[in-house]
Parts: sequence; C-alpha cells; structure tokens
Amino acid sequence: MTNDLDRVRDHYRATGLTERLKAALAAFGPEDKRLTPEQLGGLDQFHTRGLAATAELGKLAGITADMSVLDVGAGVGGPARLLAEAHGCRVTGVDLSEPFVDAARYLTERTGQGGLVSFQTGSALELPFGGGIFDIVLLQHVAMNIADRARLYREIRRVLKPGGRFLTYDVVLKDDEPLYPVPWARTPATSFLLTAAATREAIEPAGFRTLIWQDDAEAARTWFAQLQASGPPPAPNLGVVMGPDFAALTANLARNLMQGRLGILTAVFEAT
Ligand SMILES: C[S@@+](CC[C@H](N)C(=O)[O-])C[C@H]1O[C@@H](n2cnc3c(N)ncnc32)[C@H](O)[C@@H]1O
Repeated sequence: MTNDLDRVRDHYRATGLTERLKAALAAFGPEDKRLTPEQLGGLDQFHTRGLAATAELGKLAGITADMSVLDVGAGVGGPARLLAEAHGCRVTGVDLSEPFVDAARYLTERTGQGGLVSFQTGSALELPFGGGIFDIVLLQHVAMNIADRARLYREIRRVLKPGGRFLTYDVVLKDDEPLYPVPWARTPATSFLLTAAATREAIEPAGFRTLIWQDDAEAARTWFAQLQASGPPPAPNLGVVMGPDFAALTANLARNLMQGRLGILTAVFEAT
C-alpha cells in the first residue's frame, strides 16, 4: 500500500541526480575546483528567497560556532552548508530522499566542508538520533509535505536540548486552496498545508515557547516579482534537481502568494 511518505519520496525521487549535478557544475570549472555555498545557491537552496532566507534564519536564531545544528528535510544541503560557513557550527542534515542525500554529500565534497557538515537518510517522523543532542533544529519548506504535524514537532522537541531553538520557515495556507502543481506537490496528494495559527497550535503543545513570529509573505511576493522581471534564472538552477517542469511549479507558487491563497511563516521557538 502506498502511504504519505512513499508519495512524498516519489515526488523528490530525482533519479541520477548526482550525475546530473556533476555535469551541470562543469559550468563553474573543473571537478577539483572548490566551490562556495554562495555559488551553489541557485540549485541547492530549495525554498522561497534562496540564500537570503537561510542567512536571515541563521541570524534570527543567534547560531554560534559551538552549536550543533540539525536540518530536518535538508534537501540537497544548501542551507546546511551556508549555515556552517556563516557561523562555523556543525550541521547534520536528514532527508527522506536518498538521491537528495547522495547529492548533498557530493556537493559538500565540492565545497570542502565535510569536516563540519554531514547528511543521512531518514524520516522527520522518526529522527535517527538520540534525545537532547542538538542546540538548533531547522525546518525549512518541509512541514507542508508532512501530514502528522503533532508527531513531527514532538520528534523535533525530543532531539533538542532544553533551551534549544527550533526555527521553522514554511508555506502556510491562507484563505483558499492553492493551485497545483507547486514545488512540493504536483497534486494535493503530497501537500498537507496548515494555516499559520494552526501551525502554532501544533508546535507549542510539543514543548515550545514562541520567541519570534513573522509573516514573510510580502518579502516572498517582492522576491518573486523581481525574479519574474529578470527573466529565466541562470543555469544551473533547481531545474537540475527537480526536472524541466520546475519553472512551472515555481510560477504557481508565486501565483498562489500573489493571489493570497498561500503565505510564508518564519518562526523561532524555544524548547521548554
Ligand atoms: C522543498 S524541499 C526543501 C529542502 C531544504 N530544506 C531547503 O530548504 O533547501 C523539501 C524537502 O523535505 C524533504 N522531506 C519531506 N518530507 C520529509 C520527511 N517526512 N522526512 C524527511 N524529509 C522530508 C524532501 O525530501 C525534500 O528534500
């Protein structure tokens, strides 16, 4: 029987991804040339407002070099690499998609950050870690793929140290159902959006106190308007990861934000 996790895994199946990335990265020079997280930002920051959004989250959370960070639903690892570079912290990424984890490891070799950044395959609903070991947990554009939010936020709380911080940056439901396909769901079968208020109601009972609560829809709309005005994104971009329909999926996310169907939430919580 196909369940929610299988459907989500299938959405991010990305067959042959590492080979495609190797070919696409030839645009930056030979294979032995070290790349920077900033150079990769067009193809490895898989969320609205790309590099800027991750950099802002790192500052909001007050990450320091002695902290241990877990990125849940780490994708191909762009946020993990950027945070490690910006703050000198250790970052572990976990993701459901095996091809994404392989690609994240390959890209981390290319940036030479293997000493600080590592990845493993696993589910956010059953994190493969002991309790109370991370100072920070990051969840960036992942919750909308997860139906069982109570379990998700309980798992995040379990792996955090008391007093640790949970940062969530996600797409939220507004007044109306979104238009599909969107970057996380080609059909409603892999989309489990909540409103911002319902998200908070799911997070706080898991053992969290709200520190920062921000509606970032306007910043997202401005970013999409600038992207549209500047024409097709330069290669290589997230089309390498998600396939040739990625531009259409992104255009629909922009449309949903412009029409007020969807919003963007940034929030920081403290583990109580
Ligand atoms: C839109 S991408 C965001 C990736 C990354 N957070 C970023 O911002 O670049 C969503 C990611 O969440 C992962 N994901 C979705 N459901 C998951 C789950 N239950 N457990 C772990 N990862 C999951 C997907 O495999 C995908 O890599």
